Amino acid sequence: MITKIHPSILCADHGNLRGEVAKLTKAKVDYFHVDVMDGSFVPNFGCGSEIVKLIKSETDIPIDVHLMIENPARHIKFFCEMGAAIITIHPEADRQAARTLAEIREFGAVPGIAINPGTSVEAVKELLPLCGHVLVMTVNPGFGGQRFLEFTVPKIQRLGELSQELGFSLCVDGNIDAEKVGWLQPMGVSNFVVGTALFRENYLDVIEAIKNKT
Ligand code: DX5
Ligand code: ZN
Repeated sequence: MITKIHPSILCADHGNLRGEVAKLTKAKVDYFHVDVMDGSFVPNFGCGSEIVKLIKSETDIPIDVHLMIENPARHIKFFCEMGAAIITIHPEADRQAARTLAEIREFGAVPGIAINPGTSVEAVKELLPLCGHVLVMTVNPGFGGQRFLEFTVPKIQRLGELSQELGFSLCVDGNIDAEKVGWLQPMGVSNFVVGTALFRENYLDVIEAIKNKT
């Protein structure tokens, strides 16, 4: 399994975003993870279309848009037209999640769901065959720099098995560092969103440490 690294742009230095994108491009990250937040589905605001546009104009590395917003269906066309490669919605925020996932696919992006710590596999199991990407939240969404929630681990294990069967890429998001990559990857996790642990250190060192774990 090839490990993919998605730096969380929420945790980057927004005063020097072009420089950050250039540095991460040089470090050959696999995706740029953009957390779009509406202050309603999650208690914070963050990363809008201007940030997606800026990244798009500076790099060819694909963009993974994590929509932490109510009624994400309203904005699928918009983000697809901006060139998002993966679009992840929260099924808790969408009363017609199956329809929205189909729409993402029709627009040519990879459809994904994000599963909150308090949401079970059972609650989303009908959606899994419709997904190319499944993002397990290991913190309550909304902020970088939170504590990893251990109780999400059995769910990750279960989804690791289902990812083999159904063929989606399994990703984790929330307080991920090289050490956690080392023990989550054998459970079937291939994709890792990395925020604080990457941006507080030298990027190349952290990326190398992650790659060495796998
Ligand atoms: C949390 C976001 C994450 C977050 C990751 O709501 O979805 O992408 O910024 O940051 P760390 O790695 O610091 O938890
Ligand atoms: Zn995220």
